[in-house]
Amino acid sequence: MCSKILFALPCALLFAGMAGADSYQAPEEVLQEVIDKVDSAYLTQSEQNLMMMPDNPAIWVADEGEALFKEKRGPKNASLEQCDFGKGPGELEGAYAEMPRYFKDTGKVMDIETRLVHCMTTLQGFASDDPAVSERHGSDSDMMKLQTYIASKSSGYDWNPPMKHPLEKAMRDAGEVMFYRRAANLDFSCNTCHGETGKRIRASVLPNMKVPGEWTKAVSWPAYRVGHQEVRSSQHRLRGCYWQMRQGQVIAGSDASIAVISFWTDAARGQPAILPDMKR
Ligand code: HEC
Repeated sequence: MCSKILFALPCALLFAGMAGADSYQAPEEVLQEVIDKVDSAYLTQSEQNLMMMPDNPAIWVADEGEALFKEKRGPKNASLEQCDFGKGPGELEGAYAEMPRYFKDTGKVMDIETRLVHCMTTLQGFASDDPAVSERHGSDSDMMKLQTYIASKSSGYDWNPPMKHPLEKAMRDAGEVMFYRRAANLDFSCNTCHGETGKRIRASVLPNMKVPGEWTKAVSWPAYRVGHQEVRSSQHRLRGCYWQMRQGQVIAGSDASIAVISFWTDAARGQPAILPDMKR
């Protein structure tokens, strides 16, 4: 049918309508489409941020990340083009939207940050305390440049972390328990602040984990945090929320941290990733 000229236009429209789930789309367009579908005070709380999205400073951080990714670096003088983020060496399109995932070579479920550390220490030969690996925060760190570049290749792809391997399921389920687990002096859980629509802290509208169309923006990291003037990661956000609950600090790269990230990504399943995003 599509080969007939008469139908060529409707067919093109059909495919254009399907795009988004498995092809690149600029983050500001993804966000606008989500806003058009979901009535959410969280998504629309900052008109200024929405206006700045096309000029998000994180875009330049991603550009620097691309150069770093392709550069031969480290004691082994290798680029990261042989690093496998789940879709094969150097295959980045849509890879981050399917993380965390199980990696056979390490026998572990890994998020973007732990996978990057793995490749920088094994392929490139960096020591784990080399600043290239150990500095994780801020737009000037190699880690954030690389994460932002890799993640930006998943903008518009639906979150779709695999749940085939038993460890992938186990990590997601452990993350669910952690999300609901109340502890410490304040007796807060993640759910206390992110389990209902309409919660705020001062003027900030909090995202509801149970509304996937809203939650996709919440889990879209790396994001430029306007209040920090830095690009931040999922691991950094997680650390901040444990601090807000006055619970013990979560260790970046620990199974616990990856479990929560597995759960929160699964909660946004089927919704398009907004990468890089811009947040308060
Ligand atoms: C005391 C309330 C509170 C608790 C409890 C809490 N958070 Fe948050 N969370 C926030 C606030 C506030 C923000 C928004 C950041 C800001 O505006 O500074 C946020 C942001 C987030 C975001 C990103 C959305 C955004 O716009 O920045 C995610 C994802 C998230 N939290 C997950 C969690 C997880 C997982 C837990 C449990 C480990 C948790 N939160 C516990 C208050 C909380």
